[in-house]
Amino acid sequence: MPIQTPRDLFLFELGKVYHSEQSTLQGMHQLVQQAQNPQHKSLLQQHITETQQQIRNIEQCFARLGQPATPVPSQFGDYMRDLQALQQQNPPPELHQLATMGVGIWYNHFEVGCYRELITLAQTLGDQECVTLFEQSLRQEQTMAQKYDEILRQAGQQVVQRFPRAA
Ligand SMILES: [Fe+2]
Repeated sequence: MPIQTPRDLFLFELGKVYHSEQSTLQGMHQLVQQAQNPQHKSLLQQHITETQQQIRNIEQCFARLGQPATPVPSQFGDYMRDLQALQQQNPPPELHQLATMGVGIWYNHFEVGCYRELITLAQTLGDQECVTLFEQSLRQEQTMAQKYDEILRQAGQQVVQRFPRAA
């Protein structure tokens, strides 16, 4: 659908975030099976629940605009592709775990940016309900990004001790 109005642009951007959230959900379902670190597992479980809610928020916003929820794939924001690229490097399990925590930081910050944009566009269009929905999603992403920072720092210190230092 060509973008000719601010509303079209909003729908397009909404579709990109919808795609990213779906890809993130799929990836987290995969990671939660593999997670050895109990804190990481619990963060993933929490964020799976939040992401399901975030997906419903986006669908609600599509419905308010009278459009079917349609994902728009983009190069940026494809969590599954990032996980596959990591897998191809065949890291040992503890480094795979650290890397997936890092991907968690990336994506939560990325989605903070996504929701900031959607909030601003929804405000511009005067759609307060979408603003409220995306403010909820934004807060979840911000909190989760901080938790991932902490968990990567802790797990990173433990893992680094198990590897010999380069001369
Ligand atoms: Fe999200």
